[in-house]
Amino acid sequence: MTSIPTIAPTTDLPVALPDGDGSTAPRPTVYIETYGCQMNVADSELMYGRLQASGYTPVDVPDGADVILVNTCAIRENAETRVIGRLGELRRFMKRDTIVGVTGCMAQRLGPRVLEQAKHVSIVVGPDGYRALPALLDGARRGEKFTATDFDLEEHYEDVVARRFEGVKAWIPVQRGCDYRCTYCIVPTTRGPERSRKLPDVVREVQQVVEQGLTEVVLLGQTVNSYHDGAHDFADLLRAVGAVDGLRRLRYTSPHPNDFSDRVVEAMATTPAVCEHVHLPMQSGSTAMLKRMLRRYTREDYLACVERLRAAIPGLAITTDIIVGFPAETDEEFADTLDLCRTVRFDDAFMFKFSPREGTPATRMPPEWTIPDDVVAARFDHLVQTVRGISREKNLARLGDRCEVLVEKVARDGELLQARSRDFRTVMVPADAARIGDYLTVQLTGTTGATFTGTPVTAAESDATDTVRPAPRAQLPTL
Ligand code: 5AD
Ligand code: SF4
Repeated sequence: MTSIPTIAPTTDLPVALPDGDGSTAPRPTVYIETYGCQMNVADSELMYGRLQASGYTPVDVPDGADVILVNTCAIRENAETRVIGRLGELRRFMKRDTIVGVTGCMAQRLGPRVLEQAKHVSIVVGPDGYRALPALLDGARRGEKFTATDFDLEEHYEDVVARRFEGVKAWIPVQRGCDYRCTYCIVPTTRGPERSRKLPDVVREVQQVVEQGLTEVVLLGQTVNSYHDGAHDFADLLRAVGAVDGLRRLRYTSPHPNDFSDRVVEAMATTPAVCEHVHLPMQSGSTAMLKRMLRRYTREDYLACVERLRAAIPGLAITTDIIVGFPAETDEEFADTLDLCRTVRFDDAFMFKFSPREGTPATRMPPEWTIPDDVVAARFDHLVQTVRGISREKNLARLGDRCEVLVEKVARDGELLQARSRDFRTVMVPADAARIGDYLTVQLTGTTGATFTGTPVTAAESDATDTVRPAPRAQLPTL
């Protein structure tokens, strides 16, 4: 096994079958399977882009691919368990010479341990090592094994052209890593310290995706509103991206409540492209618990942040993340979480049972603080009922409203199209697949409690501006 301590961010490493070399050899195929958050989706798009520029052809099934990469998540134990199971399953798709690699947060966390545990894996590459993928794959083809898990604080993959999966919106990483140290969280270990891309580089990328016909972008960062490139803060970034001609919708995820400066709230409120939705991780409604989590805000601070945002942005939808069963969580602390959910009335929430992650401060808390599984399960169910009940009530109250939706894709049932409102509601619409990428005005006619069905309103019945179609889209690569 060869361990690569540092992989220089250069492109002069040997690469397989470069584009335009006149070679008639078949291009090797690469399949990437993605787990976890949007940052991982964006990273997979970068990896495809990097490999495509080095002569690889992306494919959408693992069966018979020359290279199979699994881009992993380490945030909770079950995310890792799934990947381990999947790595075993992928064996049956391998040809004799298929190279299997593990990338992402689990690769970074476990490093060479992956190679020991899964003998059919040849390369293990952390989030800052993707530039070296072509060289690592060349080495693997010669029978070598590699671990590349050094951080590279300058690496933003500026010159790598992402190969995007989505036809209507683009994920744009603007910040990598995290400088918070929430005691439950593995991310600072797997993604390293926070660093931001330069504002002009972000704006250039947004201009490029708009030129390709996309009209929505989502700016990504672990604490995206703490963005600072040395000269510009997140308020500057929102305004600059929002001013890109042709961009209709601007979203970002995930902010930290402490980084909503007045400037950022003001920029959000006054930049028309910024959508009326914020995903604002709460984690707990108890100040004592937030302190154990090292979230650096109180229950009152969180509520004050919600109120400032709501006062500045009418119609703002708020979604959140909540953890139950964190060490020493008392009945009263859990009740505070339920209570804050009822006070804020979230539009939706991602809810998680606490999962201890090796090396995080939470794992060094006294063992007697551990909450029994049955208590965690009961609290989790109670929380889910509470949150779903509130979002159901809010959604029922919306029936009959009209809103603008962007049609994103064919829904899973294969018949309706899935569309999204500016305030992040999912609306199923009966329309022809040719409308994907269009903005429609719909009337909300039904709800499951979580998602809506909507009927397109004819042009004569709606505001003229609502049915404006974006410029014809350039041919986008499809898998
Ligand atoms: N256990 C459970 N949930 C976690 N999250 C992060 N770390 C853990 C953990 N160890 C949740 C947080 C975060 C979201 C992305 O994942 O709620 O906001
Ligand atoms: Fe993890 Fe906290 Fe950083 Fe979010 S802010 S990535 S929860 S350490």
